[in-house]
Amino acid sequence: MVEADRLNNVELSGIRRLFELANSTDRTIVNLGLGEPDFSPPRAITDALQESLKSNTNRYGPTNGIRELRDMISEWYHDLDNSTTYENVMVTNGATEGLMSIAMSLFNDGDHVLVPDPGFVLYPSHVRIAGALPVFYTLTKSNNYIPDVYELEKIVDDKTVAIYINNPSNPLGTVMDEDNINELIKFAKKHNLIIISDEVYDRITYDSPAISFWGKYENVIVCNSFSKTLSIPGWRVGYILTPPKFSNAIKKMHYYTSACPVTPFQYAIVNGWDKAESDIKRNVQEFKNRRELVVSMLKEMKLSFPHPSGAFYVFPEIPEHIKMSSENIAKALVDKDLLTSPGSAFGMHGENHIRFSFSNSRENIKKGLNIFKKWIEEME
Ligand SMILES: Cc1ncc(COP(=O)(O)O)c(C=O)c1O
Repeated sequence: MVEADRLNNVELSGIRRLFELANSTDRTIVNLGLGEPDFSPPRAITDALQESLKSNTNRYGPTNGIRELRDMISEWYHDLDNSTTYENVMVTNGATEGLMSIAMSLFNDGDHVLVPDPGFVLYPSHVRIAGALPVFYTLTKSNNYIPDVYELEKIVDDKTVAIYINNPSNPLGTVMDEDNINELIKFAKKHNLIIISDEVYDRITYDSPAISFWGKYENVIVCNSFSKTLSIPGWRVGYILTPPKFSNAIKKMHYYTSACPVTPFQYAIVNGWDKAESDIKRNVQEFKNRRELVVSMLKEMKLSFPHPSGAFYVFPEIPEHIKMSSENIAKALVDKDLLTSPGSAFGMHGENHIRFSFSNSRENIKKGLNIFKKWIEEME
């Protein structure tokens, strides 16, 4: 196999491996592995896309995105920082490209970057591809699955330049409160770190709204996306909010990676947004109903897990009597017609856990969790 050195320490994700295994069979598999909403996009958005295509929006657009969308996004953040304008907003090809552009434009060889474990799969790989070193902080039962400043103080050093924070969390489903956020801000200020705050699930919360890091510190970069909010992960539209001091560097990387974000989809989002709000609320309510179902079934099984208050994942611990790696458990469950994601795909401290996504109908969630329950019983 031919591969540049910079990719030597980077693997394709463990979630993909399981997905491919499940796809290789003809049997019907209950899919609780999905990292995307199972809803259709709001009609207002798809209608607006038809209109957008008819009005010749098929050309290259501005590198940072169309002005109308940047204006719309910047207004959402006025309450947090009233100096926010379109100039703080860069529309990206999904949060994925945004996160990659941030890493490639701000990290130098040998820099240290604090990364959550368990945490979303992109962060450590982006750090490594950029030539820097991921330094993991744990999100485990012992720290209530929330970043623990006491631990962060032990691992930060003079090479550390940034910290990734993901709130609400994939895979944990946890949502931080104001005190957690203020402590992290204090920590980042003390060490002059850039906070890269991945807030792609900010609209999907069940108990209290997610609090953005924007406006709380001059070195915060927020990364967000329309993938989950509008159920359009295939459209690849996300955005970055950044202070001016970082924007030029990120823009260069963004330009050389993708020239500009997808033009017709940006118009569709701007023109359909106002009429899409009710669909977003309805979908979040449905996720909330499923959250209740998942929580009650897992409690009945006497499993331990962080309370899912946001995103659409739950991350139970595997009962102690099962002495198998999470990847082998996930493979064994595929044999029983259930697709999940192994906890180890999210980092070393994800081992001994399985991620269930509740991005499937209540009927399928029940079916899937019953398969899991039966399998656990069989292993006793
Ligand atoms: C925490 C988190 N960040 C970023 C992304 C990437 O989102 P996008 O589809 O906008 O690239 C995902 C997708 O699953 C995610 O879970």
